Amino acid sequence: MAGTQNIPIEAGAELISFSVNGRQVDVSAPGARRLSRVLREDLGLTGTKVGCDAGDCGACTVLLNGDPVCACLVATGQAAGCEVITVEGLADRSPLLGRLQKSFLSHGAAQCGACTPGMLVAATSLLERNPHPSETEVMDAIGGVLCRCTGYRKIVSAILNVHTETAPCSPVAGAAVGTRLVRLDGHKKTDGREIFGADEIPAGTLGVRAIRCPHHRARFAFGDLKQFADSHPGVELVLTARDVPGVDCYGVIPRFADQPVFAHREARYRGEAIAAVVGEPEALEALDPSEFPVKWEPLRAIQTIEEALADGAELIHANREQNVLVRGRVVCGDVDLALASADVVVEGEFETGFVEHAYIEPEAGFARRVGDTIEIQACTQSPYMDRADIAKILGIEPERVRIIPTAVGGGFGSKLDLSVQPFIALAAWKLNRPVRMVYSRTESIISTTKRHPAKMKLKAGATRDGKIAALDFAADFNTGAYSSWGPTVAGRVPVHATGPYRVPNYRALTRAVHTNVVPAGAFRGFGVPQAAIAQEQVYDELAGRLGMDLLEFRILNALDNTSPTATGQVLWEGVGIRACFEALRLNWKSARKCAAEFNAKEQGPLRRGVGIAGMWYGCGNTSLPNPSTVRIGLKRDGRVALHQGAVDIGQGSNTIVTQICADALGAPISQFDLVSGDTAITPDCGKTSASRQTFVTGKAAHVAGSKLRDEILKVAGACKCASVQFGDRGVTVSENGSSKPIALQDLPLDKFGYAITCDATFDPPITPLDENGQGNPYAVYGFGAHVAEIEVDVELGTVRVLKVTAAHDVGRAINPTLIEGQIEGGVAQGLGMALMEEFFPGRGENLHDYLIPSAGDVPPVESILIEDPSPIGPFGAKGIGEQAVIPTAPAILNAIHDAVGVRIHKVPATPDRVRAAILAKANGGARG
Ligand code: FES
Ligand code: FES
Repeated sequence: MAGTQNIPIEAGAELISFSVNGRQVDVSAPGARRLSRVLREDLGLTGTKVGCDAGDCGACTVLLNGDPVCACLVATGQAAGCEVITVEGLADRSPLLGRLQKSFLSHGAAQCGACTPGMLVAATSLLERNPHPSETEVMDAIGGVLCRCTGYRKIVSAILNVHTETAPCSPVAGAAVGTRLVRLDGHKKTDGREIFGADEIPAGTLGVRAIRCPHHRARFAFGDLKQFADSHPGVELVLTARDVPGVDCYGVIPRFADQPVFAHREARYRGEAIAAVVGEPEALEALDPSEFPVKWEPLRAIQTIEEALADGAELIHANREQNVLVRGRVVCGDVDLALASADVVVEGEFETGFVEHAYIEPEAGFARRVGDTIEIQACTQSPYMDRADIAKILGIEPERVRIIPTAVGGGFGSKLDLSVQPFIALAAWKLNRPVRMVYSRTESIISTTKRHPAKMKLKAGATRDGKIAALDFAADFNTGAYSSWGPTVAGRVPVHATGPYRVPNYRALTRAVHTNVVPAGAFRGFGVPQAAIAQEQVYDELAGRLGMDLLEFRILNALDNTSPTATGQVLWEGVGIRACFEALRLNWKSARKCAAEFNAKEQGPLRRGVGIAGMWYGCGNTSLPNPSTVRIGLKRDGRVALHQGAVDIGQGSNTIVTQICADALGAPISQFDLVSGDTAITPDCGKTSASRQTFVTGKAAHVAGSKLRDEILKVAGACKCASVQFGDRGVTVSENGSSKPIALQDLPLDKFGYAITCDATFDPPITPLDENGQGNPYAVYGFGAHVAEIEVDVELGTVRVLKVTAAHDVGRAINPTLIEGQIEGGVAQGLGMALMEEFFPGRGENLHDYLIPSAGDVPPVESILIEDPSPIGPFGAKGIGEQAVIPTAPAILNAIHDAVGVRIHKVPATPDRVRAAILAKANGGARG
């Protein structure tokens, strides 16, 4: 922190004095510099986060003379003589605020933690004025701070219950699974110490600024790059495709890799990087991008699926016919015959748009060269995949690339793909100087992946007794300019588009189609949420045509342990979808009754409705190997080092994997030292995606824990039925009434530095799919169903969600608080997808125009946890991360139909679309 003596005054700067967290500081900075930047970069207070630099996200909220302000909108000169309080200073301010941080932890109110400092500061301001606020007052107070993970409800509870002391959950050895253990990495998230991608700012670090294509498609030619660099003091280097020493082509699925670090002569989408300028941060800041020597020649861009598939359309990649990246197919039975003989047939077409991940932390990272190794510290969901691609780009062996994931301020799939990593790696490699890069919000939005827009056509038939006879499903997904996760979406959707139901005759054909827009990639659900929007609305129509209750129709058709899925897989155990639906029955009936009573009384424009939707989701890769390896080491003092490389992006894997391992070993959680993702010291736990970490890495941790227990017994010469105790004095083995300590000090240390080390790898048992998509694509599926209660204003077309009840079969609830957090966050994202979120390339590339749900948009969520154990998952556990988002949007859309009798075929159901559908119905049509 700056002191008061000998402050050098930089050019254009002034000496500005104010107090921060009770301490007087003098900083030399231009008066117009953002306070957020001064706090972070000059004073090292990186607890204040920056998510947008535009006053939209609230992540940078601090107290200025007691009032909450966005520090990114405050000129430092305005802070002169003021008192500034940041998250780092909250606990010292009053005991109440220390309790608020504890309350956040015990309520699970911090997931990724990127919004947490802003939330805590906003709540502090409220509690100082009003120690016992109402729920509405809390909602208002945090209304300007966005959270993309939690769905806000746990944050609200944490603030409302700040005065309630809760005893910490400290399970005894062997009893961690099933407890509401506080997130093990939580404290850093509430006191501002957590290090995200942008928070490592070593002195002397250079910056990188990418030059990106401003057109949807354009050819380009560089001018004199050397002259540009020479004429800009502080610019050290300009990087282009010519500077890539290895293979300038990367991608998350090696077989489909097609993305260059820098475009070669032609940029295929708006936002694609063509060059990068590396230099002193001030020089980059002063740079006017229009001075960069490049000449653009805009070309005709293909923006839609129809244009891409049209006869004679130009190919975006010469080797991909008709602009089709890949096709997916699952077929069983005789669909045409079954539809022809069905008693009721319903058809529908549905469309969904681009959805932006909108995590609060934009992509950021830091790289340095250490001898002949490159070290990259960045936010990522997939350290080993990053390592492989960076090695390829630099033309070096993977072992010479070290990836150290920082805390990840939300990922939801997009941080599986490379973002800043190639730029900082190339620059640091070439210059042998540390380099960092932080995406602006706009840069993040224009250049990183989105949820695939989908166009879906369905035809479903049922017999008079209410059984689904057939489903014919065809979908095209706009995968953008590069492949990213397009093949995964096209492959996963046909497996899942039946929904969690028995569909004996089924045909699902999908295509991922290239266009000249930003690549679409992984986003919570890999295309399944889009398919659910279509299939669940069509099933509602079928049930309606049959005159059946919409819930009972689903129960009648729900998969069970013995019914084959559309890929011919029989699970035999752990199919909990019927239990989910049955758990909702009471709520469904009472909600329907309440809505009917409201509608009978209401004379104004409001109509209420209730909708239901089901889901299923296979955990892990589709019919592909998917291993995780965990290492566990027993130290000489009896403590246990758990090396697990699963990146915790807020979902809680650091805690959950430890809970599993602890119970498998029989040690208390307090005995563990966590060694989290770092490719130099943790084995490969695969990527954090597809709801695989609890299941796959958790299982590997379970096996590793059991193995270590066996090894300890072996060292003690005890039988398997003996018990092992861990404590301050080391490890003791008890057998036949006598106990003996293990002389760990006498054991030689192995190559990992432990007295005993055990590795375990788990790869889920799957089989490949044949040409008709038949096989066992996943070893474990999660199931769930949501009931949405909503209110439509028929005059305005607005939809308000009043409540969501979410039943999920999680196999075994390893940590109920963290699971509820996933469900509530999933509901909030599903709500956004259903009602408000749509990204249009070239428009609204910020969080002001691209709206995500804020605290006031998200209703109460009642979570019902069903535990139908998986025979394969650790302690029976299944995944929940992706599952949680899938049923919300279709349940809301079905509720809109229940309320006002219109189907919304194009999502999101924005007020204009809902209103248009209502008017169309009034005029004799019913399309939305
Ligand atoms: S960073 Fe200041 S409001 Fe987003
Ligand atoms: S916990 Fe709020 S943004 Fe992640």
